[in-house]
Amino acid sequence: MIITNYSKQLVFIVVIYCNLKQACMLRDIRKQYNYSRLTEEIALKNPYEQFNFWLMEAIESGELEPTAMALSTVDNDLQPHSRIVLLKDFSEKGLVFYTNYEGNKAKDMEINNKVSALFFWRNQERQVRIIGIVSKLDAEITKEYFKTRPIDSQLGAWASPQSRIIPSMEFLENQYETYQKVFGDHVPTPEHWGGYIIKPNSFEFWQGRPSRLHDRLYYTLTENMDWKIVRLAP
Ligand SMILES: Cc1cc2nc3c(=O)[nH]c(=O)nc-3n(C[C@H](O)[C@H](O)[C@H](O)COP(=O)(O)O)c2cc1C
Repeated sequence: MIITNYSKQLVFIVVIYCNLKQACMLRDIRKQYNYSRLTEEIALKNPYEQFNFWLMEAIESGELEPTAMALSTVDNDLQPHSRIVLLKDFSEKGLVFYTNYEGNKAKDMEINNKVSALFFWRNQERQVRIIGIVSKLDAEITKEYFKTRPIDSQLGAWASPQSRIIPSMEFLENQYETYQKVFGDHVPTPEHWGGYIIKPNSFEFWQGRPSRLHDRLYYTLTENMDWKIVRLAP
């Protein structure tokens, strides 16, 4: 009994110590950013070109997931939700990603087509924030893209009832095997899966700078459909 109480106290002290130590560690993580600049002189006038330029630099630098973006949607109760999705196409038509049409984000976008997409490119100390209007991609484009996916990803799209509660991993594996038997090597595009395209109405490019004096250039569309660029305080 005495030993048990002593052990409890010891555990308590260790937990407190670890928490304090962790708090100190987090406070002390501090990076000086000094990779580059983004001035009004060098920024490209067209934000799509500027985005493309930075995206290519992120890819070429070996960034782990250069196409990963945090997609934020807002639900019926005005509660925002963010999650990572992968950018699969980019042009002046917009930013394309693929997902399940019955998952939570799809439900959010059904009732509120205003979304935001955020990229963080660590190697270049850069962030890009995009806000815009999302819509479903043409079904033919989805089909073309689906064909290019590896077969396990194709089967995964059938197997996973995205965002729903499932009983176990075995349930998912059974679903996968069932669809594998049903479709063999020719997996059709599920009706419940496809692309979305975000048409941006603003871009913000953030370049980390020493002493927290970061560059922030904010592009918005004017009534004449020109892009206006302003500098924001970091
Ligand atoms: C690196 C990474 C890439 C991802 N890519 C996608 C994607 O392209 N499409 C997708 O639906 N989910 C993707 N996910 C999973 C989502 O973040 C999320 O868990 C899922 O879409 C369900 O979100 P929802 O319940 O809000 O709809 C990715 C997650 C990570 C970490």
